[in-house]
Amino acid sequence: MIISGGGTGIGFATADCFDRDGDTTVLVGRRAAVVERAADRLDHAVALPADLTDPADVARVATVVAERWGTVDVLVNAAGGNGSLEPGPEPGPGSEEPLAAAAHAWTVNFRINTLSAVLLTEALRDRLASPGGRVLFLSSIAAYRGSGSGAYAASKAALHPYAYDLAGALGPRGITVNLVAPGYIEDTEFFGGGMPPERRATLVGQTLNGRPGTPGDVAQTLHWLASHAAGHVTAQSVQVNGGAERGR
Ligand SMILES: NC(=O)c1ccc[n+]([C@@H]2O[C@H](COP(=O)([O-])OP(=O)(O)OC[C@H]3O[C@@H](n4cnc5c(N)ncnc54)[C@H](OP(=O)(O)O)[C@@H]3O)[C@@H](O)[C@H]2O)c1
Repeated sequence: MIISGGGTGIGFATADCFDRDGDTTVLVGRRAAVVERAADRLDHAVALPADLTDPADVARVATVVAERWGTVDVLVNAAGGNGSLEPGPEPGPGSEEPLAAAAHAWTVNFRINTLSAVLLTEALRDRLASPGGRVLFLSSIAAYRGSGSGAYAASKAALHPYAYDLAGALGPRGITVNLVAPGYIEDTEFFGGGMPPERRATLVGQTLNGRPGTPGDVAQTLHWLASHAAGHVTAQSVQVNGGAERGR
C-alpha cells in the first residue's frame, strides 16, 4: 500500500497499523530523512521521498511503484496540512499586500492538500487492485464548517467531489473510494511548533466526548475502510472528531 504523508502524524500511524498486519507500506513525503526514519521504525516499510505537488516527481513515484510492486491494493492520501506553515511569498514589491497574501494562502493550500492527492491518485489509478482496491483521502472537519480564512477548508472540501466522481469511475472495477475527515488530532506536525493551551481547550471543549483525537483514531478508521468488511462502503466521508462538528 502507498501512504502519502506517511512519515509523520496520521500517515505514520496508518502505516504502523497496516505494518502490524504484515503489509508492505510505501511512505511518501518531501523530507527524505523523515520518511527514511519512519520506515526504519516499521518492519515492512519502504521510504519514497517525493514532492507530490510536482508532476515529474509523482511520475517518478508511479514508475518506482510499477517496477517494484506492479499493483497497489490501498492508496492513502494523507499528505497535506495547514498551508500557513509553508514558506511564504518571496520578499519583494507587493508581497506584503493583502491580495498577495490571499493568493499565496489559497494557492499553497490547493497545492499541498488538493493537487498532491489528485496527482498521486491519477498516477496510480490504473494500477489499483481490481477487484478490491481502495482509495482513501484525508479531508477535515474544516471542509464542513470552515477554517478561518477558508483556504484550507476549501482545499479539503475540493477532495469530496473528486472522490465521489472517482468512486463512480472505479466502482465497476470493484474499487472503493472514501474520505476520512478528522477533527483536532494531537501528536502530529499539523500545528507546527505547538498549540496554545487556550486554543486546545476550545477544540477539546467542542467534542462531545471531551478529548482530543489521536492519530490512531484516524488510522483505525482508514484501516476499516480498507478492509474487506467495508467492501460495500464507497463514495462516503467518515468524520472522526468526537462529535465536534455538531458543536457544543
Ligand atoms: N492534525 C489534525 O488535527 C488534522 C485534522 C484534520 C485533517 N488533517 C489532515 O490529515 C492529514 C495528515 O496530517 P497530520 O495531522 O498527520 O499532519 P503532519 O504530521 O504534518 O503530516 C502531513 C504530512 O504530509 C507530508 N506532505 C505535505 N506536503 C507534501 C507534499 N507536497 N508532498 C509529499 N508529502 C507532503 C508531510 O511531510 P513533508 O513535509 O516531509 O513533505 C507530512 O509528513 C493532512 O492531510 C491534514 O490536512 C489533520
